Amino acid sequence: MFGKKKQPIIKEDIIGVVKNSGLRHIAYIMDGNGRWATERSLPRELGHSAGAKNFKEVVKYSKNVGIRYVTVYAFSTENWKRPEREVAAIMKLLDQYIDEAALEDEIEFLFIGDRESVDPRIKERMSSLESLTVGRPFRVNIAFNYGGRDEIVHAVNRVLSDGRTVINEKDITDNVYTSDCPDPDLIVRTGAEFRISNFLMWQSAYSELYFSDKMWPDFKQADIDAAIIEFSKRKRRFGGV
Ligand code: FPP
Repeated sequence: MFGKKKQPIIKEDIIGVVKNSGLRHIAYIMDGNGRWATERSLPRELGHSAGAKNFKEVVKYSKNVGIRYVTVYAFSTENWKRPEREVAAIMKLLDQYIDEAALEDEIEFLFIGDRESVDPRIKERMSSLESLTVGRPFRVNIAFNYGGRDEIVHAVNRVLSDGRTVINEKDITDNVYTSDCPDPDLIVRTGAEFRISNFLMWQSAYSELYFSDKMWPDFKQADIDAAIIEFSKRKRRFGGV
C-alpha cells in the first residue's frame, strides 16, 4: 500500500562503499559549463566560473569520502579553438585557483599536459604549486592543455630519446604524465555527452565509465554518491572471467 521511502545516503555509508569497492581514483570530464550558462542567459565564461566552484566542492567531497586520487579535464589541447575571451577566462580561473590551492594542506597537485604552450608565468606557478605540495596524502591531477594522444606520443618520444628502438607497454605506462598514480577506476562525464574526448586514452583501458545528464556546475554530492554506488555494482574482470 505504501511505497518504500528512499533513505538518504549518509556520508558514512559512502565511505564504506568507497572502501569495499576498492575505488581509489576518479577522473572527471567536467562537461556542460557552457550550456549551463546559456540556459541561464549568461555568458559562457560564467559557466566556467560556476564549473571551477563546483570542481572545488567535488575535490573536497571526494577527499572526505576516502577517494585517494582525483583527475579533472580542465583544458584540452583542442580547447584553444574556442573564442579568445573564453580561453582567457579559463586561464584566469586556473591562475586564481593556484593561489587558493597553495593554501590547502592535504592536497598534492600535479598538472598533466603539454606546458610548453601555456603562458610562462602560469607555467612557473604550476611548477611552484607542485613543488610546494609534493608528498601530501590526497592527489589532484589537473589536465591542462592535455590530450590523450599527445600524451602517448610524448611518452613514446621520451622512451626513444633513451636510444631505444623497441618499446613495450610498461615503457609507456612509466612515461605517461600520471605514471605515479594508479589508472582511474572510474571516469565520470557530465553534460549528457557519451564519449571520452581524448582523455586519459592510455590509462582508461579498464576504467569503468559513468555518464551523467547533469551539467558540470550542477553535479553535486548526491550525484557523486550515485556514481560511486553504480561503480560498486560493476564487475571488473580486467579481461579475465
Ligand atoms: C567543458 O564544458 C569544460 C571546459 C572546457 C573547461 C573546464 C574548466 C573549468 C571547470 C574551470 C577551470 C578549472 C580549474 C581547475 C580551476 P564546455 O564548455 O564544453 O560546455 P558545453 O559543452 O556546455 O559547451
